[in-house]
Amino acid sequence: MKKKRKTQLRAVIGIGNYKGGVGKTTTTLNLAMALHLQGYRVMIIDMDRQANLSSCTDWKPDMELNHYPTIYHVLCEDAPIPVYRSESGLYYCPSTSIMNKVDQQLPTMRNPAMKLTRALQKAPDDRTGEGITDWTTDFDFILIDSPVGPQVLIDNILIAVNAVLIPINLEGFALNGLQNYLAYIQEIRETENDELTNLGFLVSRRKANVRGQREAEEQLKQRYGKQVLPVAISEREAVAKSQREFTSVYSIANAGTPREEFTLLANEIIKRTKTLLQ
Ligand SMILES: Nc1ncnc2c1ncn2[C@@H]1O[C@H](COP(=O)(O)OP(=O)(O)O)[C@@H](O)[C@H]1O
Ligand SMILES: [Mg+2]
Repeated sequence: MKKKRKTQLRAVIGIGNYKGGVGKTTTTLNLAMALHLQGYRVMIIDMDRQANLSSCTDWKPDMELNHYPTIYHVLCEDAPIPVYRSESGLYYCPSTSIMNKVDQQLPTMRNPAMKLTRALQKAPDDRTGEGITDWTTDFDFILIDSPVGPQVLIDNILIAVNAVLIPINLEGFALNGLQNYLAYIQEIRETENDELTNLGFLVSRRKANVRGQREAEEQLKQRYGKQVLPVAISEREAVAKSQREFTSVYSIANAGTPREEFTLLANEIIKRTKTLLQ
């Protein structure tokens, strides 16, 4: 696999939406893999207590019992961000069920919403033995999988990143929730993080031949124009299966279409980070 010779962090991207089940975790993992397969060095950070993203890495719950650090330790104990490496080639910081405690613990600490930002200003805690010392020179992309709450975690992410990618479903009240999320992004941009850029909306579970969905997608495009990404991810059994097997679509059979779609997504993200950031 080709390796880019010199890395220079292009983007710290939060993958977020107030809604659950819209494909945030699926997008984080597969976009990360697609970027990695193009030769980029990619770090993924799991901020969700459900730890679904972590289960798609080499992280094992017994590591937690043996006191290997996780995102919890970063947020609640001011630990540097641990960097582990998965067999797949992705670098990751896992979440854990003890993230349940952040709701109570974080708000009692000083500047609770700044924890992730501060951690990214410190050197990483290299657990790979590869000599990782610096976010900027060791990585091209950092992708952060967002939970739907508590708010303090969403704040941590939106303040720390320079970009967000918003997976959406076109069902029911999807667009109402979207407006709330966008309004909140705008608020954070005005108060805490003026670099915060919206990379766009990704239709992440596009159903074939469902008329209501097509109409909703048209509405979305009319309203938000180019903010709607020109690529979408089709709803496919192969995507669901890859999640059930705790891996990406790049390591299961019969996943040609999702692979192509996530590769197109990666190309679009590379393009947008080039043109919209800096
Ligand atoms: N394109 C897709 N095709 C089929 N199933 C999908 C697709 N995207 C996501 N899913 C499934 O939908 C469920 C929710 O996705 P997930 O990424 O966990 O959402 P979120 O992180 O936003 O809660 C998972 O079971 C996942 O496998
Ligand atoms: Mg998720």
